[in-house]
Amino acid sequence: MTGLESEGSQVRRAVCPGSFDPITNGHLDIIARASRLYDEVYVAVMINQSKKGLFAIEERIDLIGRVTAEYGNVRVESFHGLLVDFCKEREIPAIVKGLRAVSDFDYELQMAQMNNGLSGVETLFMPTNPTYSFLSSSLVKEVATWGGDVSHLVPPLVHDALADRLRRN
Ligand code: PNS
Repeated sequence: MTGLESEGSQVRRAVCPGSFDPITNGHLDIIARASRLYDEVYVAVMINQSKKGLFAIEERIDLIGRVTAEYGNVRVESFHGLLVDFCKEREIPAIVKGLRAVSDFDYELQMAQMNNGLSGVETLFMPTNPTYSFLSSSLVKEVATWGGDVSHLVPPLVHDALADRLRRN
């Protein structure tokens, strides 16, 4: 039996949801910390049909899988529709979210309360490492597009993928 297949309801599971276009060091910090608290951590990559990302969903999943492989208890999947349905199907009782600043809180609180009301799933907020409190995928893409250095903000293989993608675009 592998760690990811053991004992049904005894397994403590959580999900880290997001767009991850692409994954940053800020995301990775939250996923790594969640992976130390839970037996299994799902990274759920939202499929947003109305928004074309820089990276395709499969590319995002591949990048996340490679940068989280060392943790051993992280699995990466895409989802569309409601996050609570993703949780229900996999018996995941907890959503783990990073909070960068007070400005994140209003919307995150709304989502947490809605998700709890819909299905009873709990949301746990983790303060982001202050090193990454200003960081977002959108800013990374914007800075990289104009030639700024983002090498300290994303894992090296994401940095390579970003450079490659922007060269071709
Ligand atoms: O990285 P993002 O884009 O800020 O992540 C947002 C995400 C995916 C966490 C959020 O939009 C979400 O959970 N979407 C799934 C749809 C859903 O369940 N909506 C109701 C939320 S109360």
